[in-house]
Amino acid sequence: MKYMGAKTEGGIGRKLFGVMSIHYPKLNNRGLLSSTKDPAPRIWEPFCGGANMTVILAKLGLHVIATDYSLPVVSLYNAIVVGWLPPEPTKDGYVVAKLLPDEDPLKAYYGHALSFGGKWFGGYSRGNSRADDKYDLDFIKFVKALYKHRKHVSFAHRNFLTIKPKRLHNTIIYADPPYRGCTPYKATEPFDNDLFDLLCVRWAENGVPVFISEYASNVGEEVAAFNVIGFATNLVKKTSTEKLFLLR
Ligand SMILES: C[S@@+](CC[C@H](N)C(=O)[O-])C[C@H]1O[C@@H](n2cnc3c(N)ncnc32)[C@H](O)[C@@H]1O
Repeated sequence: MKYMGAKTEGGIGRKLFGVMSIHYPKLNNRGLLSSTKDPAPRIWEPFCGGANMTVILAKLGLHVIATDYSLPVVSLYNAIVVGWLPPEPTKDGYVVAKLLPDEDPLKAYYGHALSFGGKWFGGYSRGNSRADDKYDLDFIKFVKALYKHRKHVSFAHRNFLTIKPKRLHNTIIYADPPYRGCTPYKATEPFDNDLFDLLCVRWAENGVPVFISEYASNVGEEVAAFNVIGFATNLVKKTSTEKLFLLR
């Protein structure tokens, strides 16, 4: 789904998985989840956001636990996996959606999927150009893919910073948190990156390896770097280097 900071299939999403599976080849034992003595690890994605990595991993046959502190996005996905379909979007619908309760799937549908750049109610995306009208078609594709692979995914509303690290069997964390010093996510509280670092260290000490997507990390070892072209404004292109870090 369109989302700020999304790791998409056409972007670096699949490449990130490629690097993860070099470090954990058992990730390729997917599809054999119940029938092998050496099943692929489960992936916990505590910042699932636009659920773009979630769908990539689920399509590959991995079991994904996807959580996020944004109640609107988690409510949207929990509706999609039981068959919810988006209505034809309207400008009025966009205006009204802001006032809906967070549990209503329409809120994140308009607030992210149909909003400029996937930014939380960053402006109604449709009707300005052909490219903008693609937003809802992209979202329908996303809905179909998520529904098709729903048996591989479970969604829950959780604040990662309040979950106490413990031993989890055969589980790997893929964390794509709000980046240090970047625009905060309006649907959640400001993010404590220092506490996040500390918790990642504790999870790793508990035998749960953590991959972190960030520009820089104080705690993980850099295992990959990708140059990504984005837009600083509507017209100005901006290149940044997205990195993947591993803690184990
Ligand atoms: C970089 S985005 C994730 C993007 C996602 N990987 C994708 O491909 O679309 C970061 C996410 O962290 C979530 N978030 C912010 N604070 C959080 C917290 N304390 N616990 C869990 N999620 C949080 C935001 O709601 C946002 O969805």
